[in-house]
Amino acid sequence: MCGIVGCVLDKPAAPTIIESIKKLEYRGYDSVGIATLTDKINVKKGSGQIKDVDNAIKLTEIDGNIGIAHTRWATHGIPSKENAHPHCDCEDKISVVHNGIIENFEELKKELTEEGHQFKSDTDTEVIPHLIENYMKEGLNLLKAVQKTVKRLKGSYALAIISTDEPDKIIGARNESPLIVGLSENGNFLASDVPAILKETKRVIFLDDEELIELTKDDVKVMDLDLNIKEKTVETITWTADMAEKGGYAHFMLKEIHDEPQIIKDTLSESANIKEIVNKFKKFKRICFVACGTSYHASLIGEYLIETELGIPTEVILASEFEFFKKTLDDHTLVIFITQSGETADTLKALKIAKEKSETLAIVNVVGSTITRKEGAHHVIYTRAGPEIGVAATKTYLSQLICIYLLVAHMAENDELLNKLEDLSEQTEKLLSKEEQIKEISKKYKYASDFFYIGRGFNYPTALEGALKLKEITYIHGEGYAAGELKHGPLALIDNNIPVVGILPPGPSYGKTYSNLQEIKSRGADLIVLGSKNDKNLNGIEDKLLFDNEIDEKMAPLLYIIDLQLLAYYISVAKGIDPDKPRNLAKSVTVQ
Ligand code: F6R
Repeated sequence: MCGIVGCVLDKPAAPTIIESIKKLEYRGYDSVGIATLTDKINVKKGSGQIKDVDNAIKLTEIDGNIGIAHTRWATHGIPSKENAHPHCDCEDKISVVHNGIIENFEELKKELTEEGHQFKSDTDTEVIPHLIENYMKEGLNLLKAVQKTVKRLKGSYALAIISTDEPDKIIGARNESPLIVGLSENGNFLASDVPAILKETKRVIFLDDEELIELTKDDVKVMDLDLNIKEKTVETITWTADMAEKGGYAHFMLKEIHDEPQIIKDTLSESANIKEIVNKFKKFKRICFVACGTSYHASLIGEYLIETELGIPTEVILASEFEFFKKTLDDHTLVIFITQSGETADTLKALKIAKEKSETLAIVNVVGSTITRKEGAHHVIYTRAGPEIGVAATKTYLSQLICIYLLVAHMAENDELLNKLEDLSEQTEKLLSKEEQIKEISKKYKYASDFFYIGRGFNYPTALEGALKLKEITYIHGEGYAAGELKHGPLALIDNNIPVVGILPPGPSYGKTYSNLQEIKSRGADLIVLGSKNDKNLNGIEDKLLFDNEIDEKMAPLLYIIDLQLLAYYISVAKGIDPDKPRNLAKSVTVQ
């Protein structure tokens, strides 16, 4: 989490750098800071979101053509001005921004404090400028001082560092936290992620672990930790700056939901690539999905599909729990990692474990992210969702589902399933047709304190994902259940204060799920039912979201989730919450 940016330009850096760091706010938004170089280090920082800190202390009004900036998701130390980055050494000659966690900071801090260094924050990061200060006082230049410093750090870091002693450059370093270089006509950039630099350049170098970078206006050197120069490929990004803008919508989340019809088409165009990967597979005896959060819910749908279409034993394991299941891995198992960011620390840790024994496949949205690189998975499938800025995953979830359905269709050589996916793409303009109705419904339910979501089979994971969206952006407690499971306990909670969302597409499970909804209705709960327009049984239900197309229960997860995303979005807005920046959350979770 946290986002960092650095740039060396031929013009004042602050306006550009603040625009860039705003594009990384999805990584954390509890405090922000900037440092620039003139004949001294100039620092401005404060706690709160960038726009509020900027209004208060004018972050862009700061001289210097070289600068570094940071947007924070607190790990060590509360969100406060003192704990906001950048952090400096004792003499304010060195300034550092950091994304990651320094695991051995306590012992380093003790050692530095005993030597007389003065610390101003509770962060782990602050040991870094003080270590660099020590090495520069021994006579080393900035690059060599950073080299020695990072060799003493345990943990993860993406760093950008400036010093008044070498006022023409930024030194960067990467280990287990993402960092890229952007090359532009007006100078060069370091950033945690591509959206930060899209307005300035599309030419990018993706850095690997244990690399150091020396960045001046006209030159970029990438080195290993022994300072040997490394040849790196410059890649051209296809994402455009507009893709990371709101495009007239009130929030990124709403824009990203509206992107979904197009995303379905874009991701279906991956079909040939997916077929090629499937052709390389041997016969697996077992498939295991590994993921977190929303990506975990996409994986659960993968489990239902593989079990029913291919009959291969399949399970889904939370990435953070994966190490407890490693003994059963073998070379007959395919382990599939689902991650929109490709940077989730729990997922990357699980990948390392899985690769020791099994073949691995990543389904990922961010091109160049760690899971796609040489330390990443054996095979990579890209979802084609474009940059997703809203913290709650929406369009990336749908694109993950499309990839999973394509993967299973190709593995099963099931043309009928492939045709159904194509049909879906043709109907995409209808997908958002219920938005006004959802807006109305959300006004009624914004006062609820608990919600249940129920679905059966393929639509049980949809219930889980609908509930997660609600929790994340409305702060209302939402619980997803398999429809048949409610009677085994949770039914005791149902009364007329609890709205229940029932997912009821036509198909073999319809009858049983319908009965479960009746059981709930007869206990007084308000029902919001998602189903088919032709379902006459729903006449007596007040709040229903009905689909024109007779989409069956196997395909329903691809459409019904859009309505649940909109429901959570409009309840969030009705409650006055910013759905793009839910409290305590960040989009790219790079801590375990
Ligand atoms: C929820 C959400 C998170 C992520 C989870 C995994 O809306 O976005 O639950 O799904 O943090 O992230 P990725 O997919 O990047 O590995």
